[in-house]
Amino acid sequence: MNNSIHFKIITFGGDEYKKSVALREELLRKPPGSSFASEGLELKDDIHIAGFLGQELCATVVLVLEGDVLRMQRVATKSHLQNKGIGSTLIAFCEEYAQKHGYKSIYCHAKGTAIPFYLKNKYVAEGEPFEEYGISHQKMRKNLR
Ligand SMILES: CC(C)(COP(=O)(O)OP(=O)(O)OC[C@H]1O[C@@H](n2cnc3c(N)ncnc32)[C@H](O)[C@@H]1OP(=O)(O)O)[C@@H](O)C(=O)NCCC(=O)NCCS
Repeated sequence: MNNSIHFKIITFGGDEYKKSVALREELLRKPPGSSFASEGLELKDDIHIAGFLGQELCATVVLVLEGDVLRMQRVATKSHLQNKGIGSTLIAFCEEYAQKHGYKSIYCHAKGTAIPFYLKNKYVAEGEPFEEYGISHQKMRKNLR
C-alpha cells in the first residue's frame, strides 16, 4: 500500500489545495458554519502537503513555521483508507521536511482520540490536556536534533 503512495507540497489556493480543505472539513469539522479556508486560519506562508494514491488525494497536513519549530496541523487520512499506515507515512514526510530544513522539533495539538496515533509515532505529551472547540487536546512533540 505505502509503496504506491506519494506525498508532495501543494500550492496554496490551487485545485489540490481545495480538495485538501474539503477533506479536512469532512474529517475535522468544527462547529457548524465554520470553515478552515474562509476563517483565514490557513495562510499562504504555511506549507501544505497532500498524499496521493495514484491520482486520488487521500491525506493532508498543514505545517506552520514558528521560528526554529514546526507546528503540524490538521493531519487527516480519508476514512476508508485509515489504519493502513498512510497517516504515519504522512507525518514521517513532515519530519523529513523539518529535518532537512533545520527545524529543531515538530509539534501538534492532538485531539484526544488521536493521541495513540502520535504515541505510536514517538511523539511525547507536553503539559496538561486542554480544550479547543470543546474537544480535549494534548500538545505532543517530537525533537529532531
Ligand atoms: C489520526 C489519523 C490521521 C491517522 O491516520 P491513519 O492513516 O489511520 O494512520 P496510521 O494507519 O498510520 O495509524 C493508525 C494508528 O493510529 C491509531 N488511531 C488513529 N486514530 C485513532 C483514533 N481516533 N482512536 C484511536 N486510535 C487511533 C490506530 O489505532 C492505529 O494504530 P495501529 O496501527 O497500532 O492499529 C486518522 O485516523 C484521521 O484522519 N482521523 C480523523 C482526523 C483526526 O482526528 N486527525 C488528527 C488531528 S490531531
